[in-house]
Amino acid sequence: MLRRPGRVPAAVVGDAGIETMANEPIQGVSDLPGAELRIAAFAGSLRRASFNRALLHAARELAPEGMQIDVIEIGDLPLFNADVEAEGDPPAVEAFKAQLRDADGVLIATPEYNDGIPGALTNAIDWGSRLPGRSPLVGKPVALLGASPSQIGTARAQLHLRQLLAHVHARTLPSPELLIARAHEKFDDELRLTDEATRRVLAGLLTRFGHWITRERAAREADRALAMAGQR
Ligand SMILES: Cc1cc2nc3c(=O)[nH]c(=O)nc-3n(C[C@H](O)[C@H](O)[C@H](O)COP(=O)(O)O)c2cc1C
Repeated sequence: MLRRPGRVPAAVVGDAGIETMANEPIQGVSDLPGAELRIAAFAGSLRRASFNRALLHAARELAPEGMQIDVIEIGDLPLFNADVEAEGDPPAVEAFKAQLRDADGVLIATPEYNDGIPGALTNAIDWGSRLPGRSPLVGKPVALLGASPSQIGTARAQLHLRQLLAHVHARTLPSPELLIARAHEKFDDELRLTDEATRRVLAGLLTRFGHWITRERAAREADRALAMAGQR
């Protein structure tokens, strides 16, 4: 594959190193000047020794200055049931939605289950997508990651997740995608992300995400100002 000098290619981190999927350079680790971004991060896995949750802990460690990552859990959410919803959101759902609402962005690390995303993650997105017109996911910037012991590193799960997020009108970071293949070789026994190439791509992704959130927000504010000026 073609590699341009001076660029850190995105974004499949497999056993052969990093392979280029996008032409865009990943910015190096840098700060987000003036930003104070709160990111709510959750994994689609419920198991204790999850590579995907471990990835979020690595993200917290590698986040640029100006970005705080809060790792939250989705395991306490009941299965979505419209009858339950009609009686009022259970406390775990209320808390989850508030965490999404208060966040400047959301980071999701998904495993791949049967070529798609796990049911627990679909369930979290179902709750987060409610109610129509009041969903905390509408317009929310979201970045995706995924780790799997297989060779394809959650490629199909991330496509699936992008499709769901588009449907609920979240705004998903277009690139880079971070697909971690052979995850068992990238973490140590204590589930610390030890693979240097993966750490570098993850740090670049977080910086890009931070800049993107800031730019999207500025563009929205400019649109609003233009609309108001047009009404005068
Ligand atoms: C029900 C089930 C289905 C799975 N399907 C896939 C799959 O389609 N592709 C894949 O790469 N791995 C698949 N796996 C393996 C997971 O990628 C692996 O268990 C991974 O470690 C789960 O993520 P976690 O470490 O964050 O829990 C599957 C695992 C389970 C339990």
